[in-house]
Amino acid sequence: MQDILQQLEDKRAAARLGGGQKRIDAQHAKGKLTARERLELLLDDGSFEEWDLFVEHRCVDFGMAEQKIPGDGVVTGYGTINGRLVFVFSQDFTVFGGALSEAHAEKICKVMDQAMKVGAPVIGLNDSGGARIQEGVASLGGYAEVFQRNVMASGVIPQISLIMGPCAGGAVYSPAMTDFIFMVKDSSYMFVTGPEVVKTVTHEEVTAEQLGGAITHTTTSGVADMAFEDDVQTLLMTRRLFNYLPLSNREKPPVRAGGDPINRAEKSLDTLVPENPNKPYDMKELIAKVVDDGDFFEIQPDNAKNIVTAFARMDGHTVGIVANQPLVLAGCLDIKSSIKAARFVRFCDAFHIPVVTFVDVPGFMPGTSQEYGGIIKHGAKLLYAYAECTVPKVTVITRKAYGGAYDVMSSKHLRGDVNLAWPNAEIAVMGAKGAVEIIFREDKKDPAKLAEREAQYKARFANPFVAGARGYIDDVIQPHETRQRICRSLTMLRDKKLDNPWRKHGNIPL
Ligand code: HXC
Repeated sequence: MQDILQQLEDKRAAARLGGGQKRIDAQHAKGKLTARERLELLLDDGSFEEWDLFVEHRCVDFGMAEQKIPGDGVVTGYGTINGRLVFVFSQDFTVFGGALSEAHAEKICKVMDQAMKVGAPVIGLNDSGGARIQEGVASLGGYAEVFQRNVMASGVIPQISLIMGPCAGGAVYSPAMTDFIFMVKDSSYMFVTGPEVVKTVTHEEVTAEQLGGAITHTTTSGVADMAFEDDVQTLLMTRRLFNYLPLSNREKPPVRAGGDPINRAEKSLDTLVPENPNKPYDMKELIAKVVDDGDFFEIQPDNAKNIVTAFARMDGHTVGIVANQPLVLAGCLDIKSSIKAARFVRFCDAFHIPVVTFVDVPGFMPGTSQEYGGIIKHGAKLLYAYAECTVPKVTVITRKAYGGAYDVMSSKHLRGDVNLAWPNAEIAVMGAKGAVEIIFREDKKDPAKLAEREAQYKARFANPFVAGARGYIDDVIQPHETRQRICRSLTMLRDKKLDNPWRKHGNIPL
């Protein structure tokens, strides 16, 4: 018996070495951790339960029958993050470059299926050369099995992808269907086709980093949500994100009672917005002053900076924050910001996370590049997302709420539950200058008269009371009481019930 026990330990030890010490050293030399080291950092100490350590591929072509490595290039199982259950798979680049075989895919599918049954998130650590070339269509089939599960799990359990090495070809589409993508700077990249194929087909010369590095995807394409310096920071930030999220759509996000009193008055908010309506201020300063302990976790901080999307806590409960950022493009809504915010709102809606919206928006961005790029359809995504959203929605207009953007930004008309405005708010079809130049075109030659008209228009509309008189906003509040008013509204809304009509699914303008 002792022999058998020892044999098991030896087998395990051999399997844990993956592709061998030489390849592990090569991984370290690139500044990367191994698949197992990453899981150790991601999960609570000693919580990892591994499955399928002894799975091997079934390929016999190209000499593969003689090259079997237990585990087949991916470490799978479950563990906890701050005591909460999570399923994981971590691709092992030391084994056939982390390439996905049929058996490798089956291991991933097994944890995904189990995660769906018990209702817990899946975090995938991707480090892979894509489809296992020796396996051909069996590998492609494996990918599609994973994709199908990603789609079935969407909106049911949170799915997070960490890109910690190459991610090429089919390997990018599974992460693309998950809720959040984090990348590691300088050692990870994602692209459908690599630089060499690009050169052959389009004659474009581009490096892997330019084509699909972390900076490219967090600033230009918006494919990834955040980029971090190294593996360690990426894994620690993933733990932080995880703490905001519920385990599944069957339950609410975790509550972390803090010491920040809900009635904390923040006097500095009374002077945050400059007198001159054309002067910007930093919306992130406002968010920090309103949420618990000044702490929030921004999603896509480097993409479409004219809108801020972030998780935070208010009175200990997770909230999703969406806020126009006057510092960038005056806070205008454009294609990228609409897409960014729409996806964030839909995530919150799927997972019972109330949405708190701060509005300071002069409208949609005008111009040919926006129109040709389809701002109508993309702007409609945000409108659609807010309109279908049934979680508690609290909105605070801090300054401008002009035109269509007023409607879109979680207005009362889109089933906003509590809509508040600061006393300096301007809720109107457009800014006073633009408005009088259209409706009093004949006065354009007389600047004095036009200025008088502008002043009249301002006096009439550049305030929150016209909207208030119609009940479009529920109250005009002092800026310093914003935190308290939001917290109380969210408490009132905690058991909100609202259903959309039955349908197979809506047809969001994609
Ligand atoms: C089998 C692979 C592999 C793959 C890498 N390896 N990719 N084995 N299938 N797809 C093996 C290598 O042979 C090597 O084995 C080891 O992994 C490490 O690879 P290196 O090339 O030495 O590493 P590096 O220089 O860091 O380059 C990594 C890489 C490169 C950029 C990922 O290996 C690469 O370009 N691989 C091919 C990528 C690709 O074209 N994949 C198919 C995509 S098509 P040894 O034994 O020497 O250590 C696809 C279709 C799916 O995915 C579509 C679904 C919709």
